Amino acid sequence: MSTLRSVVTGVGSYLPKRVVPNQEFTDWLDTSHDWIVSRSGIESRHFAAEGELTSDLAINAAKTALADAGYTAQDIDAIILATSTPDQTFPSTATRVQYAIGMTGGFAFDIQAVCAGFAYALANADALILAGQAKRILVIGAETFSRIMNWEDRTTCVLFGDGAGALLLEAQEGTGSPADRGILATDLNSDGAFNDLLYVDGGVSSTQTAGVLVMEGKEIFKHAVQKLTATAETALAKAGFGQNNIDWVVPHQANLRIIRLTAQKLRVPMKKVIVTVQNHGNTSAASIPLALAHGKEQGLIKPGQVLVCEAIGGGLAWGAAVIRW
Ligand code: ACO
Repeated sequence: MSTLRSVVTGVGSYLPKRVVPNQEFTDWLDTSHDWIVSRSGIESRHFAAEGELTSDLAINAAKTALADAGYTAQDIDAIILATSTPDQTFPSTATRVQYAIGMTGGFAFDIQAVCAGFAYALANADALILAGQAKRILVIGAETFSRIMNWEDRTTCVLFGDGAGALLLEAQEGTGSPADRGILATDLNSDGAFNDLLYVDGGVSSTQTAGVLVMEGKEIFKHAVQKLTATAETALAKAGFGQNNIDWVVPHQANLRIIRLTAQKLRVPMKKVIVTVQNHGNTSAASIPLALAHGKEQGLIKPGQVLVCEAIGGGLAWGAAVIRW
């Protein structure tokens, strides 16, 4: 039986030029390179330049994904952009990208699910494609978390970075079997009972300011390992797969210890896990597409392979996607 599938036909990424190694923090913050590496695995991250906006990063990633797929902006029906650090409260950052890349039709909107944003964007893009609402969608994760850091809080400000990644998803006919290329399953979850574990202490209707990030790191850590494992297993089961079918785990890049523990619980060896956290820090919604772009560039991820992407962030919100590349 023929069925529509959302197939990845292009990948793009962009990192701001400024690289910030751990050593840059030690001049003015009570921290050390060794502490940051041992607790998080992070060695450096990129920070956007003054005046460089989330949309600027997203535009670069979108253009690279389009070029990779061999399309122009006019070939695209929709843009879904996952971000918690939009340029403005409104309009959506996605519409800024739409205009900048020269896309004059279709529709564009933002999704906000913090670090799980890309999993949410993928699931929504897949649903739009399967419903026949769009044929080609640019799915972008783009963030400037450096703009919402509390620089006096050493427990958070060393962990995050800026960047953007994009996938071009395209409707293609499949057979309905797990042998098809494309998104084979997605799984989304949230639980607002955990709002207070990870949040930004400002907002339009509450303080009329952007606010800064506040995180109960230890609590998030525990939820992360348990919930990431569960959502990855659920998505795999929906796709009709088990752990043995996984070629690559492409996790949200928040902390190397979380990545290792989750892989261990999934019974997947680290040689099958794409890791970029050491060079990117936690780029929130951008981390999975940045890791996918890295995996492709390095020749690690190959056509036909099965990938499991999993992410968790503020909300709490978490989710996973199983993709045959
Ligand atoms: N440098 C030096 N020491 C530090 C630093 C620092 N940057 N930060 C904290 N410390 C100290 C603490 O004060 C504490 O000292 P104390 O024992 O004297 O009180 C000690 O180091 C240990 O701190 P912990 O908080 O226990 O460290 P932990 O091992 O839990 O690591 C971390 C902290 C890295 C934040 C970890 O808990 C973590 O990664 N949590 C999950 C974060 C995450 O996954 N977020 C994902 C979602 S993000 C999103 O949605 C936006």
